[in-house]
Amino acid sequence: MSDLQDRQPVRFLVFSAALRTGSLNARLADLAAQTIQGNGGQVDFARMADFDAPSYDADAQANQGFPGTVEEFRDRITASDAFVIASPEYNFSMPGVLKNSIDWVSRFSPQPFNERHGLLMSASPSMAGGNRGLWALRIPLEHLGARVYPDMFSLARAHHAFDGDGRIADARLQERFAQNIVAFMDLVEASKHYPCVKTRWVEYLGEHPDPVIDRVE
Ligand SMILES: Cc1cc2nc3c(=O)[nH]c(=O)nc-3n(C[C@H](O)[C@H](O)[C@H](O)COP(=O)(O)O)c2cc1C
Repeated sequence: MSDLQDRQPVRFLVFSAALRTGSLNARLADLAAQTIQGNGGQVDFARMADFDAPSYDADAQANQGFPGTVEEFRDRITASDAFVIASPEYNFSMPGVLKNSIDWVSRFSPQPFNERHGLLMSASPSMAGGNRGLWALRIPLEHLGARVYPDMFSLARAHHAFDGDGRIADARLQERFAQNIVAFMDLVEASKHYPCVKTRWVEYLGEHPDPVIDRVE
């Protein structure tokens, strides 16, 4: 499905969960956006600052409603078929700013992460590349019904990992990064455009179809 001719329209919200300028994760998010576009996908590129909000407070929600940035986060998730987050690792977890925005949008009904595909990536100067933070990030997203892609990409020693064109200098790592993204794109495209693959599910594979015993969704 990686042939551009064959791609059906799929839209991805891509953003880095870092606020600072010069963020390594923003560079990785930028490379992800370029890779998606280069493989026939549509990108809505966002900045964490677009979605930053005051600390969640149920009284503020009751009295003032949702902040505009939270409504924007909800709207841009909803307008996309899938999301890609490049998140820094803070103390083995996700940055508070991202968790706070997730908490805010989780109060909407319908809740925008539900049944939406997501790909997680991270960049860090450390040898672990921020990967432990992504395992923490999976928890609220999966709780909210997001379909978090099994393969995550973490860029170790990220302060030395990019070349002058913003690509990953190590050619094999750059190739694996691109393969990870294209595999995710294939899944999202199949989920959106070939829904039979997703919804026709028979519980006991190998048994003869029988309406009495089949559980088909
Ligand atoms: C509060 C804080 C906690 C951090 N904790 C970790 C950590 O647990 N693991 C890690 O690899 N790096 C950690 N770092 C270093 C970040 O990975 C590094 O600052 C990175 O560049 C942040 O991402 P950014 O470049 O996208 O802003 C931490 C940085 C800060 C500010």
